[in-house]
Amino acid sequence: MEQLPHVIQPETYEMKEDISLKGKWNEVFFKNDNPIILELGCGKGEYSVALAERYPEKNFIGVDIKGNRMWVGAQDSFENKMKNIAFLRIRIENIIKCFSENEVSEIWITFPDPQIKRRRTNKRLTHPHFLERYRCFLKKEGIINLKTDSQFLYGFTLGIIEGEGHELLDCTNDLYGVHQIRENMDIKTHYEKLFLEKNMPITYTKFRLKY
Ligand SMILES: C[S@@+](CC[C@H](N)C(=O)[O-])C[C@H]1O[C@@H](n2cnc3c(N)ncnc32)[C@H](O)[C@@H]1O
Repeated sequence: MEQLPHVIQPETYEMKEDISLKGKWNEVFFKNDNPIILELGCGKGEYSVALAERYPEKNFIGVDIKGNRMWVGAQDSFENKMKNIAFLRIRIENIIKCFSENEVSEIWITFPDPQIKRRRTNKRLTHPHFLERYRCFLKKEGIINLKTDSQFLYGFTLGIIEGEGHELLDCTNDLYGVHQIRENMDIKTHYEKLFLEKNMPITYTKFRLKY
């Protein structure tokens, strides 16, 4: 991982300071003005890699804390000489130390741990504490996409969207059980494949934060 030029691993777990790339991803790292899209909890980074191949005019950053998983997508994209993808190894709790206001255009959250236990509520990646962090760097018109097998997290997220007055753009509790064709849903992550093998319906939510 340390030898891969597109893997950024800030030194400390607690991250007391902002990273030097904060506010400068386009200028210093990607060297273009293209929109930046994040995949939070990217695991092996399947969504980031597939979207980066599909959209060379956009920049993608996979974010996760687990290096062994991230290495798969990092190595794959390095071997394929992809220039519009990076991987950031941090705890998502520290994400505002990595991006500045209006720096990000879109967020994908792919199969996060639903954190069902009540005492873990604020660890859910669509909890208002996280949405407040995303607001610090997501453009006003920016979109958040959540794909999950968890009907619990799906319902929780819809409740947050409604309760906080965010703008729901699309949702389904059975993505492949309906005939509506949605863009980019053919990309399947490692966890999605496991859930599909068990015939579990996949949910999808797309929304915009209230400003
Ligand atoms: C269930 S896995 C899903 C991985 C991948 N998106 C997929 O669909 O195959 C959840 C991932 O989120 C990461 N994760 C969970 N909470 C995190 C946090 N607070 N900060 C960084 N990564 C986190 C885990 O390390 C793990 O790789």
